[in-house]
Amino acid sequence: MTHAIGITDISAATTSLFFPLTSLAEAQGTSPGKYLRGIGQHEMSVPGDDEDIVTLAARAAAPIIERHGTKEIRTLVLATETGIDQSKAAGIYVHELLGLEHNARVVELKEACYSATAALQFALGIVARNPDEKVLVIASDIARYELDSSGEATQGAGALAMLVSADPAIMAIEPASGLFTENVHDFWRPNDRSTALVDGRFSVTVYLRAVTAAYDDYVSRGGAEFSSIARMCFHQPFTKMAAKAMQTLAKHAGAQSVASAVSSLEETMIHNRRLGNTYTASVYMGLLSLLENAGLRAGERIGIFSYGSGAVAEFFAGTLVEGYREHVRPGALTAQLDARREIGYEEYRERHIRADRTGDYETRAEGKGPFRLAGVRESVRVYEKA
Ligand code: CAA
Repeated sequence: MTHAIGITDISAATTSLFFPLTSLAEAQGTSPGKYLRGIGQHEMSVPGDDEDIVTLAARAAAPIIERHGTKEIRTLVLATETGIDQSKAAGIYVHELLGLEHNARVVELKEACYSATAALQFALGIVARNPDEKVLVIASDIARYELDSSGEATQGAGALAMLVSADPAIMAIEPASGLFTENVHDFWRPNDRSTALVDGRFSVTVYLRAVTAAYDDYVSRGGAEFSSIARMCFHQPFTKMAAKAMQTLAKHAGAQSVASAVSSLEETMIHNRRLGNTYTASVYMGLLSLLENAGLRAGERIGIFSYGSGAVAEFFAGTLVEGYREHVRPGALTAQLDARREIGYEEYRERHIRADRTGDYETRAEGKGPFRLAGVRESVRVYEKA
């Protein structure tokens, strides 16, 4: 018997602080319109002293564990490009914080902002072989660029967890998938750097090239017609990027109205305007925002375009399941976004510099989530319940 496989639960988390882009514009003497309208971003989430990708990931996944328990989860895949260790998977800390079973596998995946999609595809394969098992996929990132660089306005932070299972409650993922890989240096972070290097304009060009290439591959492998995809979610390093992507794709696919295709993205942008770039989580934050806000019907198809610099891209689709909205916790992420404390320019810069500290240290208790990084002691990261 073949089962539908897909997303049966989804939950997101962000940090305890935020920095408004109007404050960045004011400090730089830039017009706020460049950020608010030009790139379509209003705020960026900033981590508190005791928040990192592990505490964010565990905060995102905790409601899923509360609802589904731990027994059937035999795999945890954590996707990130903000790795905290060159060898040990960050997901092992998350495994402990969530109280997952010892008879589970944990691994970390990396390919810039794309790797959560690889994690999702791997999860679908595991569940296809073992329909009684569930896979916990978590995307968690803190996007940091150098102070005073062009990428500075596109920083952000957040995590999103998805539980993948047979007979999913939210979205069944269809088998067709379109792929694109090309060796480019549009955005990367060498091992000796804590902030990303980026060729901003070039990265936009490669992203747009990847959209049409991945979509064409999707169609050639039996993917759905453009007109039968009700809504689309694009990776959103900044929300305007999704609009540029849809404009390119809609023209390429011969859409009846490019303008209405672009305006149909609005409900995917609500969270990301306030989070900033969440790298691996970003496209799925767009999906969550859509599921919460668009009032879509069961059976409608959602297209997903995932892009990771370097570059790998994938286009695939899923269909909504009857009653999906009861499973998405509407308003939960918005409540976290509303609860963040605003910081000013001086504090933002101090924190940016402080985030580069190395060696052993203790952290200040600032996070609002259920878990915190207590410090680094003898080179070991120590996490605790808040
Ligand atoms: N009012 C309204 N709009 C304004 C404005 C104003 N006062 N002033 C400027 N603008 C518009 C510009 O016209 C421009 O719009 P278009 O792109 O539609 O032409 C937009 O604001 C941005 O202005 P600039 O192009 O001058 O901005 P910039 O060069 O300083 O920075 C950026 C833009 C290069 C994308 C930069 O934010 C950056 O480097 N970001 C990081 C890289 C990135 O996010 N790349 C995206 C693709 S790669 C990817 O997706 C992976 C990933 O997550 C990193």
